[in-house]
Amino acid sequence: KVYTVAVLVGSLRKASINRKLALALADLAPESLKLEIVEIGDLPLYDEDIDGPSAPGPYVRFRDQLKAADALLFVSPEYNRSIPAPMKNAIDVGSRPYGQSAFSGKPGAVITASPGALGGFGANHSIRQCMVFLDVPLMQQPEAYLGGAATLFDEEGKPSEGVRPFLQKFIDTYAGWVERHAGGR
Ligand code: FNR
Repeated sequence: KVYTVAVLVGSLRKASINRKLALALADLAPESLKLEIVEIGDLPLYDEDIDGPSAPGPYVRFRDQLKAADALLFVSPEYNRSIPAPMKNAIDVGSRPYGQSAFSGKPGAVITASPGALGGFGANHSIRQCMVFLDVPLMQQPEAYLGGAATLFDEEGKPSEGVRPFLQKFIDTYAGWVERHAGGR
């Protein structure tokens, strides 16, 4: 079986390191995983007043894409030691309407990257905090905090020889996690 993985990238900028990381992981993924970036940049800030039966088109599109996926991958920078607002907004949109979360029970993983030394640790664990509440079984190991990430990818997004084995190990281990947890617990 091939499992579809909805990939959420926490940075909106074109030259994003994290977008390159997401695309590199899609390339390295074994045949059992199909990684697809689900865009989050067009989601209006979450507002219960505009949600419900006439929710904005991007909310509907985003929730449908999540629901169609077997698994989740969060790839994100850290902003002020926490989750970038676009990523938090996407988590909030996907979690609603109440009782209809698009995340519930889907296996997930988190990887963060930063030019700084801490590799986005704060964002990584802020995302994990949300996923505990949203009942997403997250892969625990290997933890993935990519520090010094400004030099890990070339212009075309190709990962350096140094980081490549770790990315391979991460995505291969995640494939096993998805196989074990997809389709509910
Ligand atoms: C940052 N950056 C940052 N880096 C970090 O390691 N810890 C942090 O707390 C922050 N805080 C922060 C706040 C804001 C508002 C911005 C715009 C940036 C730097 C950040 O890691 C860097 O810009 C990355 O390149 C962003 O990731 P992408 O866009 O390259 O994927």
